[in-house]
Amino acid sequence: MCEIRSALGALVCVLLLAGPALQVRADEVKALARAQEIVGGRCFLCHGARGEAASELFPRLAAQNAEYIAKQLANFKSGARKSDTMKGMAADLTPEDMRALGLFFSRQTSPPHSVSDPSLAEEGGVLYAKGGAAIEVSACAGCHGPRGHGSTTLPRLAGQVASYLETQLKQFGTRERTNDNAVMHNIAEKMTEREIQAVAEYLSTLD
Ligand code: HEC
Ligand code: HEC
Repeated sequence: MCEIRSALGALVCVLLLAGPALQVRADEVKALARAQEIVGGRCFLCHGARGEAASELFPRLAAQNAEYIAKQLANFKSGARKSDTMKGMAADLTPEDMRALGLFFSRQTSPPHSVSDPSLAEEGGVLYAKGGAAIEVSACAGCHGPRGHGSTTLPRLAGQVASYLETQLKQFGTRERTNDNAVMHNIAEKMTEREIQAVAEYLSTLD
């Protein structure tokens, strides 16, 4: 497709080959700028300017997977995932905004929390990797990955705020959170309070 016979030919070649890549880059720059405007307008109040979480009351979004974030925002907007706070926050976001926000947060870094209770974290690590044989809890690692990084659609859990992880596990268990196609419901309802605390402590300390 690209024959270099002259300087002009070379230029055409460069444009032909680099054009689509440059377009993708330009779309990304635009999306990231849009996301930063929305985050700076309101999200930062609770989630921090780079998704690091303004306090332990709010989940971290930094390094979270882009598609997962966009899905959660759509779920908050439609009411499939219930949160009075987040319903209002997502109300005027377009699908394009949601994708842009996902891209923005997925590009930020999430440093691990320090270990506050080593033996609890160790217990959580075993449950995470191997599951709970006695109560038939599936190994979390099978879906969320060996280091809790998730996948495009499965959430990253590594470095998340421990109290947020606990709340979500309890909400899955009691069916207050139901936007997971019942996957987490069946797992969380079998977990004891201690197991929930242990796995949350372990995950918060992963990078
Ligand atoms: C007033 C505080 C507040 C503001 C402002 C806020 N959020 Fe949230 N956000 C929360 C809380 C609280 C939760 C947890 C909800 C729950 O318990 O399910 C949450 C959850 C989320 C989640 C789900 C995280 C996960 O791991 O599943 C996403 C994504 C999110 N917020 C994005 C945003 C975006 C984008 C904005 C700005 C448009 C925003 N939030 C503004 C409080 C806030
Ligand atoms: C069969 C696959 C599977 C297994 C095994 C699994 N999960 Fe999940 N997990 C999911 C799915 C699917 C979601 C929800 C995605 C969504 O909301 O769109 C989820 C969501 C979560 C969330 C919410 C994250 C957030 O940011 O709000 C937590 C916390 C969680 N899982 C913890 C665990 C723990 C701990 C275990 C092991 C005890 C586990 N999961 C095992 C598939 C799985």
